[in-house]
Amino acid sequence: MIGIISAMHDELAELLLILKNKKTTVLGNREYYTGTLHHKNVVIVFSKWGKVAAAITTTQLISSFHPSEIIFTGVAGAINQELNIGDIVYGTSLVQHDMDASPLFSKLEIPLLNKTYIETNSNVSLFNSVTHFQTSYFKHIPKKEAEEFGIQSPKIVKGIIASGDEFVSDAVSFNNIKNNIPNLQCVEMEGAAVAQVCYEYNIPFNIIRIISDKADHSAPIDFPVFTKKVASKYAKGILENYCS
Ligand code: ADE
Repeated sequence: MIGIISAMHDELAELLLILKNKKTTVLGNREYYTGTLHHKNVVIVFSKWGKVAAAITTTQLISSFHPSEIIFTGVAGAINQELNIGDIVYGTSLVQHDMDASPLFSKLEIPLLNKTYIETNSNVSLFNSVTHFQTSYFKHIPKKEAEEFGIQSPKIVKGIIASGDEFVSDAVSFNNIKNNIPNLQCVEMEGAAVAQVCYEYNIPFNIIRIISDKADHSAPIDFPVFTKKVASKYAKGILENYCS
């Protein structure tokens, strides 16, 4: 069973449409949809926003459905300014940008875990599905919608993803996060919580993020429009290929 999590319904809406033998289980205020995607058994859930919501959902998913792996997909704000809306960040490690128990522990270190960065698990087949999606991009995303967001040929970047309980849309937060975490690609609100739960329960996991905004003053406008119109087509394109 593959566990698939997103923070919002919009991010997985298209994938849910192709889920066969769908069954819904309600636990802790969330709906867990089990079924088959092509030949693979999956469980799909929306975590809601933020690290606590993501940790609750991931823990419940693991203890009730025993997934062999977890994949989180969703949108993120770009910190690396070479990234554009529509680009894909394939996470190599996750960090909580708002973790600070100094002076007892180093800034960003997760207390009592002796870790700051949690590495994702290598998954060649998932990465190939991301690459396949990118090379057949306009089969999945209508040209008109790509043009609306200025997407011409989206890049895939492997790198560090940071999470925190903050929607980043001003220069002070942006610069703080960027300066505290070298080589950071993007910022979101759930991935590092999913990473910590998976690490502690020893479940392989991956985080895939699509850039919806540049974590600046225009983020509150770009983010919801992109999420609704485009983001769920990425999840469908990538995960449909991965499960087939
Ligand atoms: N998810 C998408 N855009 C984001 C941003 N700018 N900050 C935090 N999470 C995000």
